[in-house]
Amino acid sequence: MSEIADLKAALIADIAAADTLDSVEALRVGALGKNGVVTGLLKTLGGMSPDERLEKGPPIQDLREAVTVAIADKKAALEQAALDARLASERIDMTLPVDLGPQGSVHPVSQVMDELTEIFADLGFSVATGPEIEDDWHNFTALNIPETHPARAMHDTFYFPDLNDAGQKMLLRTHTSPVQIRTMMNGTPPPIRIIAPGRVYRSDSDATHTPMFHQIEGLVIDKGITLGHLKWTLETFLKAFFEREDIVLRLRPSYFPFTEPSVEVDVGYTLTNGQRVIGGDGDAANGGWLEVLGSGMVNRKVIEACGLDPDEWQGFAFGTGVDRLAMLKYGMNDLRAFFDGDQRWLKHYGFSALDVPTLSGGVGA
Ligand code: PHE
Repeated sequence: MSEIADLKAALIADIAAADTLDSVEALRVGALGKNGVVTGLLKTLGGMSPDERLEKGPPIQDLREAVTVAIADKKAALEQAALDARLASERIDMTLPVDLGPQGSVHPVSQVMDELTEIFADLGFSVATGPEIEDDWHNFTALNIPETHPARAMHDTFYFPDLNDAGQKMLLRTHTSPVQIRTMMNGTPPPIRIIAPGRVYRSDSDATHTPMFHQIEGLVIDKGITLGHLKWTLETFLKAFFEREDIVLRLRPSYFPFTEPSVEVDVGYTLTNGQRVIGGDGDAANGGWLEVLGSGMVNRKVIEACGLDPDEWQGFAFGTGVDRLAMLKYGMNDLRAFFDGDQRWLKHYGFSALDVPTLSGGVGA
């Protein structure tokens, strides 16, 4: 018996001393493999008499059991140690700042257009586009701007020297309103709910005017649309855009050939440390009003020019300057800097491309 006890002690000691999975495996083969020592001992049981087997069997079985358990335990311990070592060596410090390399930035105009698109998408508006090189009819005539209207004078509009194939004057669109016409005439029947952001051109240049600037047009055509819908829409949009609930609007009667009645919209601001901050009642002691929008109920003549029946369909339209909205929201004061391409300006006022639009709660939050 002491032979088996010695063998057991020796095998257990070898297993304890093994420090790689390979050496454990070699020990397993040497003890429990086909030609292993323990297997050899187990085989001798077959040739024994029942009495002898009763005596020698248990210590041999005990040996097999003890060696099997010791090998399994050792294997598990070595595997765990290997995993621990791997986890320790592959640890990543997530707090380290990442070097992103040179980064471009999103121009404030693009950022604001994205914000406006999101706000109006929440209100069910889709985005429509039109050409920047327009014909006279879409830019003026269909919008009820007669030949004699001052907006047609050369000093406002960039005309092309040649007429188009249809004999029409061609021009750089002076506003996004021709997209109203193109949308009403594109064959899709109303209801219509679109916004049209884009570049427009006027021959004008000073601190608050550049020959190219950006507008966003809005158009709703449906049944039973009233000035109330217009006011609610503008109020909701301006609150979402300026991210303030205390936006106060002042609607003033005005004139645009393509809307009747026409409304100019002022928004109240408050003087804070000498700065105009949008929000609050413009009539308050430290307040004032800024004109932000032109709007009105779409003129019957425009609806008719687009081939729709104005007794069936009504709607409202509005137009506003995207650059101006950006200046008011993000505190920039010289419009010309928008288009100088000065990288220092872009670095300061640009937005990270990784940011989502900054709408805090969206519309109706
Ligand atoms: N197109 C007008 C402008 O450029 C703005 C406007 C659009 C006014 C729609 C009323 C309705 O000033």
